Amino acid sequence: MNVLVIGNGGREHAIVAALAKSPKVDKIYCMKGNAGIAELAELVDVDYCDLKAVGDWVDAHKDVRYTVIAPDDPLALGLADELESRGHRVFGPNKRAAVIEASKAFAKELMKKYHIPTARYETFSDYEAALAYVEKGPFPVVLKADGLALGKGVLICEDEKAAKDGLKQIMLDKAFGAAGNKVVVEEFLTGKEFSPGEEVSVLAFTDGETIVPMIASCDHKRAYDGDKGLNTGGMGTFTPCPFYDKETADEVMQKIMLPTVAAMNAEGRPFKGVLYFGLMRTKEGMKVVEYNSRFGDPETQVVLPMLKTDLMEIFEAVTDGRLKEVKIEWEEGACVCVVLASGGYPLHYEKGKEITVGELDEGVMLYHAGTKRENGVLKTNGGRVLNVCAKGRTVEEARAKAYANVAKIRFDGMHYRTDIGIKYNK
Ligand code: AMP
Ligand code: GLY
Repeated sequence: MNVLVIGNGGREHAIVAALAKSPKVDKIYCMKGNAGIAELAELVDVDYCDLKAVGDWVDAHKDVRYTVIAPDDPLALGLADELESRGHRVFGPNKRAAVIEASKAFAKELMKKYHIPTARYETFSDYEAALAYVEKGPFPVVLKADGLALGKGVLICEDEKAAKDGLKQIMLDKAFGAAGNKVVVEEFLTGKEFSPGEEVSVLAFTDGETIVPMIASCDHKRAYDGDKGLNTGGMGTFTPCPFYDKETADEVMQKIMLPTVAAMNAEGRPFKGVLYFGLMRTKEGMKVVEYNSRFGDPETQVVLPMLKTDLMEIFEAVTDGRLKEVKIEWEEGACVCVVLASGGYPLHYEKGKEITVGELDEGVMLYHAGTKRENGVLKTNGGRVLNVCAKGRTVEEARAKAYANVAKIRFDGMHYRTDIGIKYNK
């Protein structure tokens, strides 16, 4: 069958690469894709947040039998609903279910109501009320814009002044746009061994009844080595996660994953797709930091290369509500992904820099994030540009291989962290 993948980053390149291996998949289209995806798929130049335009395109392409919606914004807008209402098969939650990511206030209320462990919080739409609450402390305090903000709408404020400035930024100056109409004020979680605590991302397939976690991975959200600098969309990932042992995975399944699926059903919002659990290990056990309604980026770039089962088979089982019939298997060993970003990211950066890629070692996966080809020349076209991914028997081995290949890639202003895969593995 022919399949359409919605999205244009490194995550989508990894999804397209996994689907390209499936005996069930003939041709892949990608809306909008990038220069790397173009080697595996036919690119479609339609704005994927224009629901009607996407619906019309799929209607017109009778050969497309399945659509995978990867990014958060079209899911939050209701692209799955649009396509399903026109009789098409999709992977991705509908609008009512995608709200688990699109509104942090919704996610927090859900967790409170169903006793799912997370940081204590209050939600405010009124700036003065938020201010009065925040002034009382304690500090640090965490401020979160309610809506989608490209992974940047979270401020950790060390003292009263920072918290007041942060509230003003979110609620009055609208630094994250309408996402800041409401704000969640959250307790700062402290870790078991580290402060704020070790974090792990666990993505899980669910058809609304069965939930099957993928292998756990760890993201590096800050821009610079040693977790310094601003939060980004993610500067690199590794799998496996050394502290995510069987006992921890069981705790998360019983106290977080199964209750979340049940809670969404009880609310009349059954979730079908990938649920992403951003978790922190605290003194009181594992807690939810955030939910996403989709595959993580760049988590997907280390997780999917380890998947032995046919991804298309899993997608269809989720759509048809028969996930429990599929046995999902993973390779042993480790995978590391290093993100190569444009100079200045996550703030201002330039596009259009020529990229040179030397001969990469066998087995290295180069996923494209923000790239385009202009007259045959590969150029940068976004903040996160390329993802260099390598496998190994251990994280250390995978890490060494990834960085040996990072050294073969150049573009003006190229910036990356040199410590991906070191934390928690020391
Ligand atoms: P989020 O976008 O919700 O994943 O938040 C971004 C990052 O902020 C997380 O990965 C954590 O490192 C940090 N963070 C978020 N909420 C808290 C919290 N309640 N306590 C400590 N750190 C937090
Ligand atoms: N890597 C974090 C995210 O996808 O939101």
